[in-house]
Amino acid sequence: MDIVLIGFGTVGQGMAEVLSRKGATLQSSFREKLRLVGVFDSSSYEVSKKGLDPRELLTRKEKLHRVGPKLEGKSVLDALKDIDYDVMIEATPTNIEDGQPGLGHITAALKAGKDVVTSNKGPLALKYGELMRLAEKNDARLRFEASVGGATPIINVARELLMGEKIQSIRAIVNGTCNFILNRMMDEGLPFDQALREAQEMGYAEKDPSYDIDGIDSAAKAAILANAIFGRDCSYNDVRRSGIRGITLEAISMAAEEKKVIRLVAEISPSRLEVSPRLVPVGHPLAIGGTLNIFQMMTDLAGEVTVAGRGAGRLETASALLSDLVALMKEDCVVRRRTV
Ligand code: HSE
Repeated sequence: MDIVLIGFGTVGQGMAEVLSRKGATLQSSFREKLRLVGVFDSSSYEVSKKGLDPRELLTRKEKLHRVGPKLEGKSVLDALKDIDYDVMIEATPTNIEDGQPGLGHITAALKAGKDVVTSNKGPLALKYGELMRLAEKNDARLRFEASVGGATPIINVARELLMGEKIQSIRAIVNGTCNFILNRMMDEGLPFDQALREAQEMGYAEKDPSYDIDGIDSAAKAAILANAIFGRDCSYNDVRRSGIRGITLEAISMAAEEKKVIRLVAEISPSRLEVSPRLVPVGHPLAIGGTLNIFQMMTDLAGEVTVAGRGAGRLETASALLSDLVALMKEDCVVRRRTV
């Protein structure tokens, strides 16, 4: 399996580390060679038919702040045309305005019949239906566990492990930054701005933190879940959204007097698509602490199924990309066995 990795920031570098740590084990489990044949960051790229060493790429990036020779005005899409690959890992940053550049990368790969694994929310929150139709038309696979919940498995759990269930609704906390801010305000009495600064220092907040505090990041994730799990064809713009910018210390202490906490909750069902601050009783699973994410699914047979875990981070998000990559390898393995 020949892989092209686009995006060599936090997530892309995490993926390189994961490939260097797990590559050999995967190769022996699936009896298939895993080769990283191309890597792009925002200004440079490196290719090798024989396969690149992820460790070397990480060292080079640290020293030179780029992964290879400069693109020199060449676009990623032009450079891609000369690379023979099977799977694109798309890990460029989310852009919720028009989904670019990730949308262009994913579209080009699917049109060429290549499989895609991505952590990029923008393209999926804006053009889910179009991308899925494009994948189907070109007999390509598009997987995106890493786009929601970081390391916490939700999309594949809902669609693959709970395949026989009817999932009626999901209530979730999908933004670690907001959860952290609300907790710090409650536990330490910190003012909103100070708690936000701490979240930024910890590296959890988006580059533009209004994506977090205005509920934009949560709404993008809610739209992806609505499409992927409830079969809707909606976009981020269809999500009713309010964030936590207006939450005061007074509101938090009034909630505490009633033994409640304030949480930014996403609610997704066939008829509901909303992100808003809610009062949650202390001790309720959604009153989760720190930067964790949590998903509560209501199902017809299994009842309530809850998954929780780390919602962001270098290796955490890479672990979700890896789970999709392994799923592709497993499918290919089954197909190979059937055709032998
Ligand atoms: N800013 C996001 C969060 C990162 O705080 O959850 C993960 O998408």
